[in-house]
Amino acid sequence: MKKFKRTTVTTALPYANGPVHVGHLAGVYVPADIYVRYLRLKGEDVLFIGGSDEHGVPITIKARQEGVTPQDIVDRYHTIIKKSFEDFGISFDIYSRTTSKTHKELASDIFKTIYDKGGFIEQSSEQYYDEKARQFLADRYITGKCPHCGNEHAYGDQCESCGTSLSPNDLINPKSTISGSIPVMRETKHWYLPLNQHENWLRQWILEEHKEWKPNVYGQCKSWLDMGLQPRAVSRDLDWGIPVPVEGAEGKVLYVWFDAPIGYISNTKELLPDSWEKWWKDDETRLIHFIGKDNIVFHCIVFPAMLKAEGSYILPDNVPANEFLNLEGDKISTSRNWAVWLHEYLEKFPQKQDVLRYVLTANAPETKDNDFTWRDFQARNNNELVAIYGNFINRALVLTHKYFEGKVPDSGELNDYDKQTLSEFVNVKAELEKLLDNFRFRDALKEAMNLARIGNKYLADTEPWKVAKTDMERVATIMHLSLQIAANLAVAFEPFLPFSSEKLRKMLNLKTFDWKDLGRTDLLKAGDLLGDAELLFDKIEDTTINEQVQKLLDTKKNNEVAAWKANEVKEIVSFDDFQKVDIRVGTVLDCQKVPKADKLLQFRIADGLEERTILSGIAAYYPNPQELIGTQVCFIANFEPRKLRGILSEGMILSAEDADGKLVLIQPQTKVSNGIEVK
Ligand code: MF3
Ligand code: ZN
Repeated sequence: MKKFKRTTVTTALPYANGPVHVGHLAGVYVPADIYVRYLRLKGEDVLFIGGSDEHGVPITIKARQEGVTPQDIVDRYHTIIKKSFEDFGISFDIYSRTTSKTHKELASDIFKTIYDKGGFIEQSSEQYYDEKARQFLADRYITGKCPHCGNEHAYGDQCESCGTSLSPNDLINPKSTISGSIPVMRETKHWYLPLNQHENWLRQWILEEHKEWKPNVYGQCKSWLDMGLQPRAVSRDLDWGIPVPVEGAEGKVLYVWFDAPIGYISNTKELLPDSWEKWWKDDETRLIHFIGKDNIVFHCIVFPAMLKAEGSYILPDNVPANEFLNLEGDKISTSRNWAVWLHEYLEKFPQKQDVLRYVLTANAPETKDNDFTWRDFQARNNNELVAIYGNFINRALVLTHKYFEGKVPDSGELNDYDKQTLSEFVNVKAELEKLLDNFRFRDALKEAMNLARIGNKYLADTEPWKVAKTDMERVATIMHLSLQIAANLAVAFEPFLPFSSEKLRKMLNLKTFDWKDLGRTDLLKAGDLLGDAELLFDKIEDTTINEQVQKLLDTKKNNEVAAWKANEVKEIVSFDDFQKVDIRVGTVLDCQKVPKADKLLQFRIADGLEERTILSGIAAYYPNPQELIGTQVCFIANFEPRKLRGILSEGMILSAEDADGKLVLIQPQTKVSNGIEVK
C-alpha cells in the first residue's frame, strides 16, 4: 500500500435547480462526511470539497418556465442547498459554486491547455437551429411527433409516452419550444474529447490497478470499456455556461459535464489560493470522489481522461459510488415531489439531524438500491437510538449524579464480569477502522452501536440501582466503568452522529475527541465533574409518523389525478373503430438490446402464423432481456411497419406506463395460444 500524506475528498456537485433530499444525503454527503470526520479525528490532513453545479440545459429550461434568468434559479437553490448541508453537519471546508469567477477562469484554462496540446478533435455536424430565436436547439428544446408511437409531444432526446430514446432527427414535424417555429438544419462545429484514444491506459489503470474498487463501480467501468469508448462532445451551442475559450467558438459554451468536475479543483483554489495545487497535483495526495451511481462513468472515465489530457493532475484513488435510495418503494422524483426534502424534514423534526443521519447510514444503499420508509425511521429511532444508546447514556449520567453528586467515582476492584465487558470493547477501534477504511459505513455504524449495546447490557445486568442499597463501593466501580464506555461512545459516534457526540461530550465534560483514545478506559478520571444530564434522543410517536405517511399518500393521489389530467381521456371510439386495432398474443423467441440505442429492445415474436420482429423502447426496465424469452406479450398485429435504427419493426408491444415513466409489459396471466386475439 502506497503511503499518502493527505486526502482530498470531493462530493458530487448537486445541480442547483432544486433542493436536496434524503437520497442525496444517503448516497453521497453523509458517507463522505463520516469518512472525513473519521480522518480528521485521526489527525490526518484532509480537505473536504463541495459545491453547486450551476450550468446545463435543465437550469435554462426552469428559468424560462418561470420567466427569470438562469442566474436567479441557481442563486435561489445554491442558497437552499448550502444551508441544508450546513444544517445536517456536512462539514465541508468549502461549499462554493460553478458560477464563481475562480471556477470560470480555471475551467477555461484547463480547456485551453488541453486544446493547445491537441487533446481535442473538432467535428462538424448538422443540428437544429431556430431561425427566429437565432440559436441552436438543445435536444430538450425540440418537440415533435414520436416516430414510434405517434405521441405528438415527444422531446428531441426521448418520447415520454413510449419511453424510446430519440435523437432530434427522429422527430416528425419538429418544433422549437422557444419560438414555436420550425427549426432548420444548420452546420455547427464542436470539440470532442477522443475517449477512444484514452482507452488503453484507462483499461490498465482501472481494470488492472484498481481491482479494489467497489464491485458496482468496477463492473460499470468494465462494461463501458468493453463496449469501446467513443469521442465525446465537450462543447454545446447554448447561452448559459462558460464560453469556449478559442477563436471561432462564439455562442458556444463548455458542456456542463466538462466544467462541473473542474469545480472540485476551483473550489479548492478559491479556499486555498496559494496552496491548492498540493491537493491536486502531488503524488502523495489521495483523491476520493463520493458520488451516486449515475455519475460513475464521468468520474472514472471522462474526468480522469480530461485530467490526463491536461497533464499535471493526479487521478482518483477511489470512487466509492453508492446505489440509489428509494422512498416508500418508489423511485425518488423531484418532478413528482416524491421525496423527503431536507429543509422540510428539519421543520418537522427540528434538532433531529442525527436521527436522519443514523437511519440513512444504517440503511445506506451501499451495495444495492435501498428503501427509506417512515416506519423504519421510527423503529430505528425508538428501538435503537432511544432504547439502546440514549438509554445507556441517560442511566450512566443520571445515576452518577444521584449517587456521586455528578463526580466520576473511583474505579475500585474490577470483578470478572467487569473484565469480560471491557474485553468486549477492546476490538472496537480496530474493527471500526477496518470498515471505515473500506467505505463500509453501514457496518461501521453497527459496530459503534454494538458498543452502546455492551454498555446498555452492562448496566441492565449489574443493576447498580439495586446494589446501591447494600454496596456503594461496587456501585462506584459500575458507574466508573459505565462512564468510560460513555466517553468511548462519544468518540466512536462522532463521525456518524456529530450533534449527539457534541452534546455527550459536554455532558461528560470531555475536553476533546481523539480517535486514538478509542478503547481506553481512563478517558475520565476519578473526581472529574460531569455536566448536566440531558436526553440524547427522544421517542417519535405514531401520530408524527402517520402525518408523514399521509403526506406521501396525498402526493401519490395528486400525482394520479395530475396524470389523468395530463393524459385526458381520449375521444369516444365506436366498437367498429376499436375492432380496427388487432391486438394479439405471441411468445418471445428472442430478445436483445439494439446496439447504440440505450432504450430499445429487439423482440423476435412467434405470432402464431410466423415470426416477426418488433422493437420496443423498454430496455431501461428490462436489464436482462433474455429473461423475457419464453414469456408471452401482447402486440398490435396490424400496426403500420416502421424502420427504427435501420431495423423494420412489425407491430407494437403493449406495456403500461407508471407515473415515473417506468414501463411494464402487459402479459397474459396464464399461457394461451400464440396468435389469439385480445379483446
Ligand atoms: N450535478 C451532477 C448530478 O447531480 C453531478 C456533478 S458531479 C461533478 O448528477 F463532478 F460534475 F461535479
Ligand atoms: Zn413514442
